[in-house]
Amino acid sequence: MQFSLIIPTLNEAGNIDLLLTSIFSHDNLGDQFEVIIVDDSSTDGTPDKVRKWQNTHNVHLIERHARPDLTASILDGTAAAKYEVIAVMDADLSHPPERLASLIQPILDGTHDITIGSRYIAGGDTIGWPFYRLWLSRAGGWLARTICDVNDATSGFFAFRKELIKNITENARGYKILLELLMTGREQLRVKEIPIHFHNRLHGSSKLSLSHHLTYLQQLITLAGGTVSFYTASRFAMVGFLGVFVDVLIFQWMTGQGISLATAHISSFIAAASFNYALNTKWSFRLQHSGHLHWSQFSRFLIVGIFAMLLRGAVLAWLVYTWNISTEWAIFPAIIATAIVNYLGSAFYVFPRTKPA
Ligand code: GDD
Repeated sequence: MQFSLIIPTLNEAGNIDLLLTSIFSHDNLGDQFEVIIVDDSSTDGTPDKVRKWQNTHNVHLIERHARPDLTASILDGTAAAKYEVIAVMDADLSHPPERLASLIQPILDGTHDITIGSRYIAGGDTIGWPFYRLWLSRAGGWLARTICDVNDATSGFFAFRKELIKNITENARGYKILLELLMTGREQLRVKEIPIHFHNRLHGSSKLSLSHHLTYLQQLITLAGGTVSFYTASRFAMVGFLGVFVDVLIFQWMTGQGISLATAHISSFIAAASFNYALNTKWSFRLQHSGHLHWSQFSRFLIVGIFAMLLRGAVLAWLVYTWNISTEWAIFPAIIATAIVNYLGSAFYVFPRTKPA
């Protein structure tokens, strides 16, 4: 079998010998494959462990000194790979080497583009994970199912045709490169899931952190077509904050003049919405905006704005008339509800992610 097996590592010294011994003991893989270990400046001696294998086996070591990142490591490994079929697996013995042949064969045969070692189809399971890890992994999988029809899109054990990688941006980061790959061709990709038994690691510790989960969530949203990110959200929030001043000042002044609630609400909303749109095109979503006024984009903005205004009116009327909350206070939760709807509408509908050519 001719393939390149990429194994990303970050402090896996206790696993290297066990893993490589297991991989090279499987006769069904033949001797035509290479192993590329991409290490991210481990401090526990992982590279030294790998070097000991280099004289006797087809093992290569890439030492990265940039900021540690799983996806970036796999991209570097793929760029250095000799073969057209790439497989990826964790170094911690979570993934069964005996399933490598079943993973690679459909790609070698040309019947599939991506194969996935799946924990969440009949015949697969996860052994030894604490409940919260299992729950997080299942939740990640369910969320991914909203954008691709795969049961285990968060698996780290998969194989693919090397050329697919060219569709992934060099800047892709985080834990879930598989999700990026699955989104490269969407409907056209031939994907097969192969059941595996996933075992929790025995040596070392997981590197998955809260920030990886948040990055994954953002990755899902971005792949779904939105431009939700800390970059756009923080700027949108600041613009919104300024807009609140415009909104509240006009609203309070008008109601103070004895103008009706409905008129004050609509007028202050329109003033604040125009102010926000101008600033968002110039700042928050400037990367999605050419700098010129697009009527279609402006009309989409107005549609989101009108929807948000109706929502704000409904929340305001509900708080004032049902709960007898004073208009001075009721306007705040109404504005918050509007801001959330406005942001999501802006990210997904008004300024969606530009599709690659
Ligand atoms: N080069 C590099 N750089 N390797 C990394 C980095 C990094 O920043 N972070 C983790 N790794 C390596 C680990 O050394 C290990 O070989 C593999 O990536 C998986 O990392 P873990 O941190 O052990 O992951 P896990 O066991 O908690 O499992 C989770 O991630 C896997 C990613 O492949 C789960 O979500 C699994 O479903 C998933 O397979």
